[in-house]
Amino acid sequence: MEVLIIRGGTPLGGEVRVGGAKNASLPIIAASLLAPGSSSIEDVPHLRDVDTMCGVLSSLGATVSRSPSAVSVDASDISSVEPPYELVRAMRASFLVMGPLLARMGRVRVSLPGGCAIGSRPIDLHLKGLAALGAEIDMGYGQIEARATRLAGARVYMDFPSVGATENIMMAAVLASGMTLIENAAQEPEVVDLANFLNSMGARVRGAGTNVLRIEGVTELSPACHMVIPDRIEAGTLMVAAAMTRGCLVIDNVVAEHLKPITAKLREAGVSVEERDDGSIYVEMHQRPAGVDIKTMPYPGFPTDLQAQFMALTSISSGSSVITETVFENRFMHVSELARMGASIKIDGRAAMIEGQPSLSGAQVRCTDLRAGAALVLAGLVASGETVVSDVYHVDRGYERLEEKLARAGADIRRVTESEAEQAV
Ligand code: UD1
Repeated sequence: MEVLIIRGGTPLGGEVRVGGAKNASLPIIAASLLAPGSSSIEDVPHLRDVDTMCGVLSSLGATVSRSPSAVSVDASDISSVEPPYELVRAMRASFLVMGPLLARMGRVRVSLPGGCAIGSRPIDLHLKGLAALGAEIDMGYGQIEARATRLAGARVYMDFPSVGATENIMMAAVLASGMTLIENAAQEPEVVDLANFLNSMGARVRGAGTNVLRIEGVTELSPACHMVIPDRIEAGTLMVAAAMTRGCLVIDNVVAEHLKPITAKLREAGVSVEERDDGSIYVEMHQRPAGVDIKTMPYPGFPTDLQAQFMALTSISSGSSVITETVFENRFMHVSELARMGASIKIDGRAAMIEGQPSLSGAQVRCTDLRAGAALVLAGLVASGETVVSDVYHVDRGYERLEEKLARAGADIRRVTESEAEQAV
């Protein structure tokens, strides 16, 4: 097991590049199952979750290979429609193979998914959508089986604009007969990126990025090449890092439009954010941030995946802040760890009240989930003394060598094994 050791207090500076989006890469890799032949997906980050998705596809008979930044999937021969339980349990997004397998193979059998422990995370919306397209669904013994000779286009209204359900239903509908309408669809940039990939395979998806998707089914798709969009959550995390450390950082490879809710909140906190024409963003901060109130919402609202990182920021802000989590019901597990570093946070249901402190102090803290881990790293960058962040494998699910990027920008952060860390004490 590895840990991160951070000595706080250095302002970040220089330039860092954001990688391709994890949450776009995962559904796009799954979508490559829809067509026989070899698809190539560029700028895919090196992450545990991506490895898990590649493992899922290999287990189904696809040939998956990796070059430094691309993933190639040859889905000519699919020999199984049952991804193994160990992989599905390791990552909820494994469930995204359900739509493509059902559409192409007419059957899929999958275990109930796992993932970060941030709430009950049901899959009713996925199943409701697939059933509306004509799939017969059986559940039992922790397994779900769906069958359909050929799916038929239908009108699907989503009770909540779930990202994963929108993606799964869209991937199923592209090969259905006739027209599918997904109403109250998720509008996240990653949903748009998936729609663009599907369209480059020959699908007819219209309206991606709005809350109504129109999908005219086709009889077959062809493999395609695609470059995934930059990771807006990684970009947002680096923006917060620059703001918290009172640094000046150029963050390269971003789509400024995707960062609007983040930029707006950072500006409200007094951070200078400049969007540049060359696809970069410049963040500069010289004073203590002001407190800000935040409510997480589906896109284009403030992303739940940056809630924990903003909680780290508001922990050192002047004045008080209220952060309300409306997307997941149990996403405050970082609160007790931040408190160990001196943060003053009270939770009342889905709201957290943060009383900003002049400083935080280094401590031994543990990642409880991916974004919680990122928040602890950010807190460590400004805490006095040494912070040791353990269970860092959570961070590796979603950030490619975060500590290397931060170290290149001047942070005093290194990755060591737990036993090396113990010897150093
Ligand atoms: C995706 C992202 C995740 C992000 C989340 C919300 C990926 C791989 N993961 O997760 O990083 O935090 O969007 O932006 O893209 N829900 C139901 N029934 C369902 C499906 C979802 O009630 O069938 C609920 C969930 O419990 C949750 C909310 O809807 O409370 C949002 O979930 P959803 O948008 O589906 O998130 P994911 O696709 O799992």
